[in-house]
Amino acid sequence: MTTVSKEIREGIAIITVDNPPVNALSHSVREGLAREMRELSSNADVRAIVIACAGRTFIAGADIREFGRPPQPPHLPDVVTEIEAMEKPVVAAIHGTALGGGLEVALACHYRVALGSAKIGLPEVKLGILPGAGGTQRLPRIAGPANALDAIISGRHVGAGEAKNWGVLDEVVEDDLLDAAIAFAHASADNGPRRTGEMEIDSDKFGPEFFAQFRESIARKTRGYFAPERCVQCVEAAVSLPLEEGLKRERELFQECMSNPQAKALQHMFFAERQVSRIPGIDKGTPRRDIKRVGIIGAGTMGGGIAMNFANVGIPVTILEVEQEALDRGLGVVRKNYERSAAKGKLTAEQVEGLMGQFTGTLSYDDLGDCDLIIEAVFETMEIKKKVFGELDRVAKKGAILASNTSYLDVNEIAASTSRPDDVLGLHFFSPANVMRLLEIVRADQTAPDVLATCVGLAKAIRKVGVVAGVCHGFIGNRMLSPYGREAALCVIEGAKPEEVDAALFNFGMPMGPMTMSDMAGLDIGYLNRQGLGRESYETKAYDWMDRLVESGRKGLKVGAGVYAYDEGSRTPKPDPAVLTLIETESAKAGIERRAISSEEIVERCMMALINEGAKILGEGKAYRASDIDVVYVNGYGYPPYRGGPMHYADSLGLENVYAKICEFGEKFGPRWWQPAPLLKELAEAGKSFADYDRENAK
Ligand code: 3HC
Ligand code: NAI
Repeated sequence: MTTVSKEIREGIAIITVDNPPVNALSHSVREGLAREMRELSSNADVRAIVIACAGRTFIAGADIREFGRPPQPPHLPDVVTEIEAMEKPVVAAIHGTALGGGLEVALACHYRVALGSAKIGLPEVKLGILPGAGGTQRLPRIAGPANALDAIISGRHVGAGEAKNWGVLDEVVEDDLLDAAIAFAHASADNGPRRTGEMEIDSDKFGPEFFAQFRESIARKTRGYFAPERCVQCVEAAVSLPLEEGLKRERELFQECMSNPQAKALQHMFFAERQVSRIPGIDKGTPRRDIKRVGIIGAGTMGGGIAMNFANVGIPVTILEVEQEALDRGLGVVRKNYERSAAKGKLTAEQVEGLMGQFTGTLSYDDLGDCDLIIEAVFETMEIKKKVFGELDRVAKKGAILASNTSYLDVNEIAASTSRPDDVLGLHFFSPANVMRLLEIVRADQTAPDVLATCVGLAKAIRKVGVVAGVCHGFIGNRMLSPYGREAALCVIEGAKPEEVDAALFNFGMPMGPMTMSDMAGLDIGYLNRQGLGRESYETKAYDWMDRLVESGRKGLKVGAGVYAYDEGSRTPKPDPAVLTLIETESAKAGIERRAISSEEIVERCMMALINEGAKILGEGKAYRASDIDVVYVNGYGYPPYRGGPMHYADSLGLENVYAKICEFGEKFGPRWWQPAPLLKELAEAGKSFADYDRENAK
């Protein structure tokens, strides 16, 4: 297939890249661009050149699917150098997104014209690498080191207006991009090329202090990541070295990143997030239901946040509560959230009012008759849920989708309490629901394909990553959280201090340790859950010490005391000697001789518990893919993306090692909680990985 074509109009050559879906710089595109540059440099009829793209976007980057395969010449850095070296002016015509290698091609062009809706960016850092075709050398030259560092380290998409202010874009037009780029090419034909690589940086302004400050400003956000520091080093090289040497340094650091396991993990995440919407039994032909108005039952912690997601994309919401006071309180929290965004300059006062105008409060189910989707977020008891769904069955219009935000309850049982179980499913949002990207879409036995398809599409529309899960206790995420929490708590009763457990897992890359997390969630939640379960259903040794804390009033952060102590008004956990004494007493009561537990053991036990449960979920068909589980854990629980999620992490350890470790734990700690998942055993014995399983079962 020809991916690069050429047309000559009145002395201007228009090169068009057409490589759907995103015009990635696959081998044929690189070859085509190099070929055209060579031909055009000696074509006397051509005075200037425009590089444009067909389809939805300008070049969105290197072809990520080619990573990991032996690179085929021409290599992108060479193509980019050839473009910049042209003696005839080259103009990039940018629509959609010019990302990564795409922006690097554009920066090698001598001028850039873009649509006002276009965006530019260097998102390589999100793939664990750095811009490897001169981006780290040319962007600082044209936009200045500070803007370049911002773009390269955040990987964010920069709007056309901002990019013009940075000097990256020469002209921004609202329509007729190609005509504007051709006109620009005509006008620049006499001026000749203006090469980004030849631009000067005032290096005196960007000395070691500037970079030290920048490093400090990103330290928290980039903790544990390999690529960001290398990106900074590249920009340092841009400031202090001539182009050619800077490019050489960029190449070395690019290779370092590429061969680091984080690159593989982050690229796995990129494709994993794009896999989640592939659902067996659903394709383009599956009908979708129209969602024009959404109803929410319950305006508590979750209801308000869930509602905001829809209001934010222009879908009006009706919120139902039992009492006016609860309704007012819930809507008040929503308003406060928007006002907080306004205070940060993210919204104007009018926008806040506009958003609030999308909300209608009610105390009457009869007002939900015009809703196309109704999501229930009331107290977590089956009895109340069934009552609510009974009411919904009565008032909801035919074809309305009925969803529960339940964390643990059986969605099949909820569905069965209505006369229309095929319209029912779980939509499990994560707290805070207006912020967290993850949405578990819980498919019940009778959920209709068009209901599922609609909700998968809706997740995207409200900018969430929607992962389909089957019905089981806790679905994918919370089900896995349970054995992870158990091992963490067992480490404490066996001898580790809570802060040691937290430090081990924090250093592994989790955003916070499980003890801090329990304090934040409230220790009473687990306590009440255990009371309901009965002592035979859980590991009492792990949790009795926590129950004693709750009984003594230490319910967590909200009361200023839990596993940790908190100074008044502070959210910083402080180890409390009184808690350690309580733990030691409980250890003695359980007949446990406390021992030193290494951070390695803490991490291994927690991770093996997570992986084993993940493998059970996968084997039982409660998740379609191991990579779906990774998406859940990264987006819902802060698992470090640079480890690729727990299942990818298991693959990186080797499943035979993971299986052996779980068997070893079974012998050491008893078989009750350490039964290896049958699928794990099967894959380990066959020398396979979870990625192999996904490939072989591609859906
Ligand atoms: N290479 C290969 N495939 C790519 C790709 C890329 N760079 N970017 C996107 N795709 C594929 C996706 O996998 C998806 O395939 P599928 O339909 O089979 O699942 C398809 O294109 C459409 O992608 P999205 O679903 O993400 O489409 P959106 O419209 O939501 O987003 C986008 C478009 C903003 C371009 C988004 O795809 C994106 O962010 N892509 C990655 C951009 C990127 O990271 N570029 C840098 C690459 S690394 C690089 O350039 C190295 C260089 O410095 C040497
Ligand atoms: P919450 O207690 O903050 O809010 C529940 C709200 O529902 C209250 O405002 C209450 O007045 C209202 N309510 C109770 N019965 C009602 C009824 N019959 N009709 C209308 N409104 C009624 O609870 P939260 O935390 O928002 O949880 C709601 C649901 O979301 C639960 O099923 C919970 O398991 C689930 N969930 C909670 C998460 C969290 O972190 N809090 C995370 C994900 C899911």
